[in-house]
Order: sequence, then structure tokens, then C-alpha cells
Amino acid sequence: MSLLITGGTGFIGSHTVVELLALDKDIVIVDNLANSSTLVLDRIKQITGKTVTFIEADICDRQAMQQVFLTHDIDAVVHFAGLKAVGESSTMPLSYYHNNVAGSITLLQVMAEHGVKNLVFSSSATVYGENNPSPLDETMPTSATNPYGQTKLMIENILFDLAKSDEQWSIACLRYFNPIGAHESGLIGENPNGIPNNLLPYVSQVAVGRLAQLQVFGDDYPTPDGTGVRDYIHVVDLAQGHVKALEKLKDISGCVPINLGTGNGTSVLEIVNTFKDISGQDIPYHIAPRRAGDIATVYADASVANNLLNWHAERDLATMIADTWRWQSQNPNGFE
Ligand code: NAD
Ligand code: UD1
Repeated sequence: MSLLITGGTGFIGSHTVVELLALDKDIVIVDNLANSSTLVLDRIKQITGKTVTFIEADICDRQAMQQVFLTHDIDAVVHFAGLKAVGESSTMPLSYYHNNVAGSITLLQVMAEHGVKNLVFSSSATVYGENNPSPLDETMPTSATNPYGQTKLMIENILFDLAKSDEQWSIACLRYFNPIGAHESGLIGENPNGIPNNLLPYVSQVAVGRLAQLQVFGDDYPTPDGTGVRDYIHVVDLAQGHVKALEKLKDISGCVPINLGTGNGTSVLEIVNTFKDISGQDIPYHIAPRRAGDIATVYADASVANNLLNWHAERDLATMIADTWRWQSQNPNGFE
């Protein structure tokens, strides 16, 4: 029996594959390399001493997906494949809806045809929208403020309806908070295309000299130092959350939303100062206007993951930043 990992050469997917290989799982990765490189596969082999089956294919390609299920004995799917740049999703909404929503529908249809009804899905804390107070818990109403968020919400709704229609489906819908960090080896990590949108890749590229200075988006939020507060979570903790979710699927009937966060909030300036201390590099920054769509404070109530999956995040902020810096300083140009 094999696990199908869509988007498995990406940031979170590659770290999850490493954790699954440590448990001797047989892995099939499907990725169209839209935002990743096959060089990741060599690094995964260096870390684990093990190989995976890699299939370069698009989840929107029904024939290719059918071929995957015909040639491999898949018993569960971890579905990471998706486009994730919030700004780009507003300028290219059709690409996002097609890739994320239509692609997920194709994947689900092919899974159903082959009787594979175990799924772990990459959702996001973005589905909590702008109006819920933190800590955010899974009972709160959901909404979205941009096309990327809409795609996550639409897929979640499809999964809830699907699970209601057929009780054989077991689905864990994992709502990630802000994944950062990298594998402790420094061999795999986040490698965004172009100028990063997210805080940590931006800060680390300033630290390594690829970018001149950080813009801090707003210092007038109602937070202790005025800058935005988020729940940063180490990508290896997140990856281990997927392992726990896969183990739990046998007890889940239906579709269960589960937050994966630490439950702690950290401000932009705390990130900058910790990064500066740990890397020993200067991080020049200036205060810029608020970024449209940002809210002051976002952090998780992580009790469902704790109680249901017996999982909690173990790595602290210093470890997250030390691992981010090791990856970035050892690979200033990513995997190239
Ligand atoms: P990533 O871009 O590094 O990985 C996604 C992978 O999916 C890439 O390797 C890309 O090439 C692949 N892909 C995209 N469209 C595809 C398609 N149609 N067919 C096959 N492969 C395709 O992103 P990530 O940070 O690892 O995120 C993984 C998932 O988690 C995404 O669904 C993302 O929306 C979700 N998520 C990420 C974050 C975050 O901050 N990184 C937060 C919440 C949710
Ligand atoms: C963003 C997305 C969210 C997505 C998540 C993961 C928006 C509005 N939200 O979340 O939908 O799920 O990424 O991909 O884009 N910051 C700076 N300077 C920067 C970058 C960020 O000050 O150059 C600040 C932000 O204002 C925020 C914090 O850093 O307060 C974290 O930002 P980011 O890493 O982009 O994550 P989110 O905004 O939480």
C-alpha cells in the first residue's frame, strides 16, 4: 500500500514526505513542479537514505491521475497541491479557481472511482476570515477575503458535502497557521519564486543579502508593539501533524476541520529581533503602511489537534528561526 502525496516536492509536502519515510511508508509524489523542483528529491534521499516514486503530473489532468491510481495501490492521499500566493490570486483568479478547486474535484473523482476515500487536506487559517477573535477555534464561522482564501473555503465545503453524502470518506481538513522553519539538516526549506510575500522568507532573504530591506506593514495595530501578531509554526511540527492525522483517519467518519498552530502569537518586530540575534546579521527595515487584507492578531486554539490527534507543536520560535536561517544561509539561491 502506498500514500499519494500531491504537491510533495513543495515546502510542506517535502517535510511531510521526510517524516513519512522515517516510518518506512511507501510514497508516490505527484507534482507538476509549478512551484518546486526535482532537486528536492535528491535532498529527501540525502536526509532519509530512501527514495520515493515521483510522477510529474498535474492534478487537473484526469487521465494522468487515473494512471496513478491504476499503477499504484494507493490507500490514502495527502493533498498539498495548490497555488498559494494571495496577491497573485487576485490578479489571476481563474487560474487559482481552476488549479485549486477544479484540480481538487478531479482528484476526488478519481479517488472515488478507485474506492480510495482517506484524505488529509491542506486548508488554511485564512478560512477564519477577518471577523473572528483569536484564539480561533474550529466552531467559528468561516469566510474569505481573497480568491486564494475562497479556493480553500470552497474545497472545504466540497469535502464536507462529500463526506455527508458517503460515510465511507474519512477526511482531515488541516487548517495551518503560519508555517516557517526548515528541516534541521538545512537541506530542504521554503524556496518561493520571485519576491517573497510572506514574512519569514522575506526576512531571511534580507539577512542573506538578496533583498535590501524589509517593509514592516503597519505599526499601529492594537498589539503590544503595534505590529501584526501571527501563530508561527515549525514546518516539521506541521509535517508530524499530518502523520498523526493519517494515523487517525481510520477513526474518523466524515470531514473534520483541525487547526495546526502553536496557540502562541508573535509580532513582526519580535520576529525581526529574534532573527537578528540568531543569525548575527543586520535586518534593515522601515515601517510601511498596513497591507490590504491584514488583520492585527491571528493565533490558534490548538485543543482539537491536541485532543483528537494527540499532537502539539514542540519547536519554539528560536528553533524555527535557527532552522530557517540554516536553510537560507546554506542555500542562498534555494535549490539551484
Ligand atoms: P508549495 O508551493 O511549496 O507546494 C505546493 C506544491 O504543489 C508545489 O510543489 C507545486 O508545484 C504543486 N502544485 C501546484 N499546483 C499543482 C497541480 N495542479 N498539480 C500538481 N502539483 C501542483 O506550497 P506549500 O507552502 O508547501 O503549501 C502546501 C499546501 O498548503 C498548499 O495547498 C497551500 O495552499 C497550503 N497552505 C500553505 C500555507 C503556507 O503558509 N505555506 C498556509 C496554509 C495553507
Ligand atoms: C498570508 C496570507 C494568508 C495565507 C498565509 C500563508 C495575506 C493577507 N494573508 O498570511 O491568506 O494563508 O500568508 O501563505 O496575504 N509582513 C510584513 N512585511 C512583509 C511580509 C509580512 O510586515 O514583507 C507582516 C504581515 O503584515 C503580517 C505578518 O508579517 O502581520 C505575517 O505575514 P505573512 O507571512 O504574509 O502571513 P499572513 O499575513 O498571516
